[in-house]
Amino acid sequence: MPLVTIQDLKVSYSVRGMFRSRSEVTAVDGVSLFVDEHEALGLVGESGSGKSTLGRAVLLLIKPRHGRIVFDGVDMLEAAAHRDKTAIRKFRREAQIVFQDPYGSLNPRMKAGRIIADPMYVHGIKDRRLVKDKVLKLLDLVGLPASAYDKYPFSFSGGQRQRISIARALSIGPRFIVADEPVSSLDISIQAQLLNLFREIQEKQGVSYLFISHDLRTVAFIAQRIAVMYRGRIMELAPKTELITHPLHPYTKLLLSSVPSKDRHPSEQHDQAGGRAEGCVFYPRCTVARDVCMDMGPRLKEVSPGHQVACFLYGQ
Ligand SMILES: Nc1ncnc2c1ncn2[C@@H]1O[C@H](COP(=O)(O)OP(=O)(O)OP(=O)(O)O)[C@@H](O)[C@H]1O
Ligand SMILES: [Mg+2]
Repeated sequence: MPLVTIQDLKVSYSVRGMFRSRSEVTAVDGVSLFVDEHEALGLVGESGSGKSTLGRAVLLLIKPRHGRIVFDGVDMLEAAAHRDKTAIRKFRREAQIVFQDPYGSLNPRMKAGRIIADPMYVHGIKDRRLVKDKVLKLLDLVGLPASAYDKYPFSFSGGQRQRISIARALSIGPRFIVADEPVSSLDISIQAQLLNLFREIQEKQGVSYLFISHDLRTVAFIAQRIAVMYRGRIMELAPKTELITHPLHPYTKLLLSSVPSKDRHPSEQHDQAGGRAEGCVFYPRCTVARDVCMDMGPRLKEVSPGHQVACFLYGQ
């Protein structure tokens, strides 16, 4: 049984338009996937494709409109609906997030030691000596000196701050971490160091990741399987090497051929707030589209073991 299973997840935002009108933006539109224990699943796609929304919804930080999220055999949306405190508390302990922005995500008034210890206190671990001991071990694990314990976030660089975020996420022994663009805001050389750290942590601690990035190369460094997302849907999902050497979806091919940049926001050029056409969401940009692609959305279909693609080129 996978550690995390998501079924037909749909997440919408209500946005205010002109003249007090409101409309719904569907950011995640029927996503199904799973993450195995000790596995890193990469999630890649351009800006605005719904990656963060999916990652946050999986952690119950945003309420989905539809679907199921099963964690370690427990339906978490049911648990939340029934206010099952024991299940929710276990989930909050075992599923953690590392955000993109190392500047906004750390409390500037707390010293690093306290920031890392905080989840332990929240989850009722009160023995101060034990907590301090654990924090010092975590600092060492993420490659920071023990002297970091008594320093405030402003005295650290972006990369060091991300190390603190990682230590915090690890402090209560999670089994699942959503890492949402955790290295995108850092210099390239620092990115490589942190990616190595993520990989090392996965190997040492056996955690599972949903590892989100707009950069396929970043995701490929960490993940065993990769899901490609476009405008709220999974276009293709396959083991890493398979996806890179035999990409099937025209969008995956486009991602592989383009040099990614964090400043580019191509999919924002499309009207996300407007009503969604019935056809394939990639149709407007697809160079090999057929008539059928305009009329119908292809479903995600398994074309070889573990390789799924949503495209009429591969039958439906
Ligand atoms: N709080 C919000 N209110 C309204 N719309 C939102 C909100 N957050 C995201 N959206 C919209 O939902 C869609 C998906 O956004 P999301 O942030 O999940 O994408 P993303 O793939 O994480 O993008 P990025 O790579 O820029 O982080 C976009 O159209 C975005 O404008
Ligand atoms: Mg995002």
